[in-house]
Amino acid sequence: MKNLENTKIPYLESSSYLTDGKLLDWRGDFSDVYSNIALDKNENPTKIGRIPDMDENSAIAALDSAVEAFGRGKGVWPTMKVKERIACMEIFVKAMKTKRSIIIELLMWEIGKTTNDATKEFDRTVDYILDTIEAYKKLDRKSAKFDKQANIHAHIRRGPLGVILCLGPYNYPLNETFTLLIPALIMGNTAIFKPAKLGVLLIAPLLEAFEEAFPKGVVNILFGRGRKIAAPIMKTGKVDVLALIGHSSSAVTLQDLHPNKNRLRLVLGLEAKNPAIILPDADLELTINECISGSLSYNGQRCTALKIIYVHELVKDEFIKKFSRKVDELKYGLPWEVGVFLTPLPEASKPQYISDLIDDAVSKGAKIMNKKGGELKKNFCFPAVLYPVNDKMNLFHEEQFGPVIPIVSFTDINEPLNDMANSEYGQQVSLFGRDVEKLGPLIDNLANLVCRVNLNSSCQRGPDVYPFTGRKNSAVGTLSVFDALRAFSIRTFVASKDNPYNNKILEELLDSEYSNFLSTEYLL
Ligand code: G3H
Repeated sequence: MKNLENTKIPYLESSSYLTDGKLLDWRGDFSDVYSNIALDKNENPTKIGRIPDMDENSAIAALDSAVEAFGRGKGVWPTMKVKERIACMEIFVKAMKTKRSIIIELLMWEIGKTTNDATKEFDRTVDYILDTIEAYKKLDRKSAKFDKQANIHAHIRRGPLGVILCLGPYNYPLNETFTLLIPALIMGNTAIFKPAKLGVLLIAPLLEAFEEAFPKGVVNILFGRGRKIAAPIMKTGKVDVLALIGHSSSAVTLQDLHPNKNRLRLVLGLEAKNPAIILPDADLELTINECISGSLSYNGQRCTALKIIYVHELVKDEFIKKFSRKVDELKYGLPWEVGVFLTPLPEASKPQYISDLIDDAVSKGAKIMNKKGGELKKNFCFPAVLYPVNDKMNLFHEEQFGPVIPIVSFTDINEPLNDMANSEYGQQVSLFGRDVEKLGPLIDNLANLVCRVNLNSSCQRGPDVYPFTGRKNSAVGTLSVFDALRAFSIRTFVASKDNPYNNKILEELLDSEYSNFLSTEYLL
């Protein structure tokens, strides 16, 4: 235990929430926010602030405000000129940048991200917003024209869908939430947004920026438990899109509450169990480095993390020996310590859950292959490399979302391929090897089992311009800077028969300022 007496805790009590364009002061119950970074000898969580624990009435008020701002499609926001919505987003991102240091600090304290990863999360989010603005301009430029087919002129654009309920995950509480919220807003939708169960305080410094940048009711931000806030909102049937990155069980529960499921659109990023497949001719040094970052960056708490490793019998012994040694060399410490790679786990129950997965696998024949594997503290479990893992063990099936790495050996490539085909998930795979004769057909098969085949590299979401999606239980819809704009909009158009009467009207409309939709203005 380090001496942490002089550690500065970023204590923040926030009572504000955003509804109907105003920052309001919450007068009801509050929840304390704890960090799993322990400052005392007993390794107890550290209190770092409190946030409103809001109720059904406040949730419905926020929903009403979003519904009114959309105004059945005639609200100020959904009918605004594209360049004006972009101007609002630019005001927001400028204000957001001024909160960089407090948000990075809170990311470290609330969810235990290293300084490096927390900084990356903030900067990547700012870049995402700027890239979204550019992508929207590009999209709009393509729409600044008329088509003509079968004697009908058409002016085709992408229009908003309505009211979005936006829920993000705790592991990327800023970035992944904003990869939903920002494209949803810029396309003209209105939103209710509730931060995840962890990584909540860091939204508070941004409330003023949201209030300043967007018209009344366009974005509404609530704090509290999903079942008290999100559930009553869904039951009203007034939500047009459920945008959620998290677990499919939450998505299904919320979806089931909507009375008109057929009109509820879904944009979902869900769980995964991405495998690594290591062929006998793989460059082992490179493979080990990629498998370390793939399985253990941010303690394995990434939906894209490598969560099971298949290694060919011929290279199994060497791989396991060197990989296990490397895992033991990883430095555990506080997020801001130099060279730290592993950090406290933010979920209080996670260390025990990981330890239980290890016990279950060991009781069914697996061995812990690294010396420190499974060492348990109140807020951490040292990563365990487990071999041989088989389908009788919970670790084989469950998305561990934490520091434990199951290894399975194979002689026939159909073994991992069959497991992948039978798995509930289908996000990505990492394929390690060199021989193109073997790789070629494998890639052809893998591309149809998952949505990204990473050749000799770990799985990841970025760069954000690439499609991020999955098959089966892993996703609904595709996200990327460009795809997200599509996901939160629909093609809608004005059509008119080509005759002098209509053409004159169209020309007059284009020359006037009466319609923001009907416009051939070219955004620079
Ligand atoms: O939790 C899942 C994230 O989308 C992973 O993103 O691959 O950039 O860490 P990443």
